[in-house]
Amino acid sequence: MIIARTKKELNRYLKLVRKANKTIGFVPTMGALHKGHLSLIKCSDNENNFTLVSIFVNPTQFNNPDDLKKYPGNETEDLDLLLRESCDIVFIPDVDEMYPEDDKRIFDFDGIDKVMEGKFRKGHFNGVAQIVSKLFEIVRPNKAYFGRKDFQQVAIINYLNKTYLPDLGIDIISCDIIREGDGLAMSSRNRLLSVSERKSAGLISKILTKYGRKFSGYSVEELRNRIAEEINLDKNLEVEYIDIVDDESLQTVSEIIPGKTTICAAVYDGNVRLIDNIAIT
Ligand code: PAF
Repeated sequence: MIIARTKKELNRYLKLVRKANKTIGFVPTMGALHKGHLSLIKCSDNENNFTLVSIFVNPTQFNNPDDLKKYPGNETEDLDLLLRESCDIVFIPDVDEMYPEDDKRIFDFDGIDKVMEGKFRKGHFNGVAQIVSKLFEIVRPNKAYFGRKDFQQVAIINYLNKTYLPDLGIDIISCDIIREGDGLAMSSRNRLLSVSERKSAGLISKILTKYGRKFSGYSVEELRNRIAEEINLDKNLEVEYIDIVDDESLQTVSEIIPGKTTICAAVYDGNVRLIDNIAIT
């Protein structure tokens, strides 16, 4: 596995890969790798000749400096994991390498950035777009892989790719959420949970599944309230939002259409903010 820390180093390898007409699969991450990331790497390996993983904790997507400070990470552990996976190149730039000057670009996402995560984490998706567009321009992969746990992020990246970067010709592949045994969606943030918080965390997906997997016939408002009330019964959990949205527009629906509607949740477990979603079937 090759480790590149600068764009120049990375380009040297990528030039060879492109010259040999090999396809490149790209898995952007912020490190603290878990089985969710590994499943993206496996998908990329199945569909491409080369798999490139980036590890970069992007400061511009954190609206809360404390959250950035606490974001978990351990490069040695990540590299150990990647060595055992089919990762060919890992790109680990530092902040100066990715932002030699302030990125002042403001992206317009036609409203899909204004709801849910966008409402509670101001500027988050603009920061995601800044870094993902930079990485896409550098790596120019054939396919890029993202987990559906970040349901809204996938929509934003699809929009970014289609609207701002059509010439790169990248296919965005969204992959299934990988869950722990009790249903908790895998996330780097799970490492921050105490033992008691970790126990509570499993309830989030259990409650979402209970209401999403078998369409209950509740109205949108009833469904939202019931889910929030059940989650809030746990002493560690506090709902930030539950939204029931159209899969395409990401706007709150007035009527639930199974197969086209998703329940999205952001929940504080102690001080750790967790997100999850489940399609209503
Ligand atoms: O999902 C993430 O880990 C990040 O938002 C991403 C896509 C790597 C951009 O920093």
